Amino acid sequence: MADPAPHLLLVDDEAALRQLTAERLVERGFEVVQADSGEQALELIEQFAFDLLITDLRLGGIDGTHVINAARARYPAIVGIVITGYGTVRDAVEAIKKGASDFIAKPFHFDELMHVVQKSMEQRQLRSENAYLRSQLEERYQFGGILGRSRAMQSLFQVLETVARSASTILVTGETGTGKEVVAKAIHHNSPRKAHRFVALNCSAIPETLLEAELFGHVRGAFTGAVGTRQGRFEQAHKGTLFLDEVGTMSQGLQMKLLRALQEREFERVGDNQTIKVDVRVIAATNSELPRMVAEGSFREDLYYRLNVIPITLPPLRERREDIPILVKHFLDKFSANAETEVSQEAMRSLMAFAWPGNVRQLENAVERAVTLSGGRKNIEAVDLPPEVTSAPGVMTATPFVEFPPAGIDMTEYLASIERDLMREALRRTNNNKNKAAELLRIKRTTLVEKLKRQEGH
Ligand SMILES: Nc1ncnc2c1ncn2[C@@H]1O[C@H](COP(=O)(O)OP(=O)(O)OP(=O)(O)O)[C@@H](O)[C@H]1O
Ligand SMILES: [Mg+2]
Repeated sequence: MADPAPHLLLVDDEAALRQLTAERLVERGFEVVQADSGEQALELIEQFAFDLLITDLRLGGIDGTHVINAARARYPAIVGIVITGYGTVRDAVEAIKKGASDFIAKPFHFDELMHVVQKSMEQRQLRSENAYLRSQLEERYQFGGILGRSRAMQSLFQVLETVARSASTILVTGETGTGKEVVAKAIHHNSPRKAHRFVALNCSAIPETLLEAELFGHVRGAFTGAVGTRQGRFEQAHKGTLFLDEVGTMSQGLQMKLLRALQEREFERVGDNQTIKVDVRVIAATNSELPRMVAEGSFREDLYYRLNVIPITLPPLRERREDIPILVKHFLDKFSANAETEVSQEAMRSLMAFAWPGNVRQLENAVERAVTLSGGRKNIEAVDLPPEVTSAPGVMTATPFVEFPPAGIDMTEYLASIERDLMREALRRTNNNKNKAAELLRIKRTTLVEKLKRQEGH
């Protein structure tokens, strides 16, 4: 035992035996504290983080199992060993099920006890080494709470590390649920601005008329309902980071004002002509295609370039399926009270084959639901997953059988007929609900409507 002396708590109400055992443990290099009751043991545990706990099972009041439970709740890594009297082996088995490392039956030779102690301590050593290795692995696969082992995410982490240090404006683009907000927060918390505020504003959630006041603040009487003077989000984020979510939804007039705020780092509160200067780092996010909106003229080109100084694109989950297992593990830890809950291989196959139109958020919801449905079972099975996940046509690698006539085939017509069948089936399953049918087909509702129209035209 090269480490500093292990601290051991010895609990037994038989004073003579306890004293003798304690003396011999001290000879072997342990720091020993004794308790003659469960109650006293609990008090000592509250005050000190012992490495080892050896307790008689039957004590006058609170019994040994209870003491071990309390110790493990406080120090998950503590080694607990129970001493049993005659005829209580069954209780010892129970104690082990509840978290004791091992047991020894009275009467015992001291060497037997030492053997049990040593074995349990080695096991604990292994366990903590495993935990260390695991944490090292997790370290490599995350950046500020964003998990990912795919190549795309690994190179994203490198970019984030660099840009976090700068004050440049960032535009985060990605489908819904891909983690745009997590990325914005991670950048802030790894930046020199982290001691100041991260202020978020969802531009699509606020009526256009109030959005300007929300951004830049207003003075009393600036508009109906403006009873007092208020700071806007820009001012609140002074020296920190302002996260503008869904910037694509902003009106032209406001785009103009935002452009000026970004260029000059100054603005006026609504209803006021006094100019306010701020030092704010802006991170904007959008799930719409701003370049297309620029081309169509609904988004100012100059503002687009101002925002897009550093573009960060989050790939959809279906393009980085190798991230799914660690995300699943992460969400299991989050939602399951039982640390050992696992996902069966079959369920994992379904999770990895699904297209996840709602990306990480949808995966998170699916895992939460599965944990609830599994009702404390240790294994999450395919039946616990949402039906759309398990009924998806699994791994689509098998080549579908196509009858190929010797004279060739009208491919366009053939594909159209397949589309027609799929759309009919989707509409049938959803009682003609076009939203849900489009979801089942992983296409936009507008695309479905268009295709239906075209089919009717034929
Ligand atoms: N890489 C990731 N690692 C861990 N959790 C993630 C990751 N990506 C997303 N999440 C989780 O998924 C959920 C959705 O993420 P977030 O809100 O950042 O998505 P979003 O892109 O902003 O979506 P929306 O466009 O719908 O606003 C959150 O609970 C977030 O914690
Ligand atoms: Mg978001």
